[in-house]
Amino acid sequence: MAPRALITGITGQDGAYLARFLLEKGYEVHGMVRRSSTETFERINDLRHRITLHQADLLDQLSIITLLQNVRPREVYNLAAQSFVPTSFLQPLLTGEFTALGVTRVLEAVRLVDPSIRFYQASSSEMFGKVQREPQDEQTPFWPRSPYGAAKAYGHWITVNYRESYGIFACSGILFNHTSPLRGKEFVTRKVTDAVARIKLGAQDKLVLGNLEALRDWGFAGEYVDAMWRMLQLDHPDDFVIATGEKHSVRELVELAFAHVGLDWRPYVTIDPELFRPAEINTLRGDAGKARSQLGWQPTLSFADLIHMMVDADRERVARELAE
Ligand code: NAP
Ligand code: GDD
Repeated sequence: MAPRALITGITGQDGAYLARFLLEKGYEVHGMVRRSSTETFERINDLRHRITLHQADLLDQLSIITLLQNVRPREVYNLAAQSFVPTSFLQPLLTGEFTALGVTRVLEAVRLVDPSIRFYQASSSEMFGKVQREPQDEQTPFWPRSPYGAAKAYGHWITVNYRESYGIFACSGILFNHTSPLRGKEFVTRKVTDAVARIKLGAQDKLVLGNLEALRDWGFAGEYVDAMWRMLQLDHPDDFVIATGEKHSVRELVELAFAHVGLDWRPYVTIDPELFRPAEINTLRGDAGKARSQLGWQPTLSFADLIHMMVDADRERVARELAE
């Protein structure tokens, strides 16, 4: 019988890649979606006939318990969250409800319905915040710099706690930034590649950004979901940093993306101090040595190839839209 997995956040970037990945591995894939007045689900539209979607919400405990009772999955990947850092400053309480307490609600459902379920929590390098060491690994202390980072730190520790208290097979993947052509357009990588495509095709004339000096460790989402799955196949649950080990500035990202379409970025980019954050994370770079040795996982796509792939995908899409 095909193994059954449930993905919360299946409509997001990672959910869409993970659903494809698990289908290819022969899984029966179920996804949790929240009610909306307009159902777009654009990242998973091509998979709709191969997956089963169920309505539930991270805010509603009973809906999650009922979902697990109905689906009875072997693996639960908890990817749902309010994931945009600036929004977490504007809506810190809602972010805490979704991104922190939401994890406990899913874990409580696992504990009550079937404690043998294998559980993956989408933790984040944002927990390292004001970094205490470079590069960051599983032992590096957390110092979150946003309500989102603080909520993720709670989600991480409650996952560890349910493992230690109830023996649940619960893993926390501490993933550094990862992106793709399916990335939300508010995140800086996709904001830049979408703008570059539009500028090249004459549909936009400038790009307004915030802090160009921030450094991030960016990888490809399509490769990072493989690491999530590998964690849940271990003999014993554990926590892993997933990263490339390289860091690049937002400025480098911008230069690279514009150069790919033969443009100098300087005439097009302006800086808006409104886009700076109340507390910034200046630098993040992960050490995924433990994942390499214990999961056999390592990233292969280079930063330049990743950004070029995203610019190319946005160019194709924008050209299609303009032709319609
Ligand atoms: P994303 O594209 O923003 O997707 C977030 C998902 O969560 C969406 O499917 C969203 O549904 C769902 N969601 C939000 N609130 C919900 C609620 N109350 N009930 C049910 N579903 C809800 O995020 P992503 O980039 O795929 O990231 C996946 C996870 O990894 C997130 O937890 C994120 O915080 C974490 N993470 C991401 C990165 C990264 O660089 N991408 C790095 C580390 C950790 P709607 O479609 O309805 O909005
Ligand atoms: N979004 C955005 N928009 N960021 C900008 C801009 C802009 O116009 N200009 C500069 N930046 C800088 C931000 O200040 C930040 O330092 C960096 O670009 C990356 O910002 P985001 O792409 O929004 O990602 P993030 O690093 O804050 O958070 C992402 O990665 C985390 C993992 O470390 C999200 O995916 C989180 O959900 C994830 O946990």
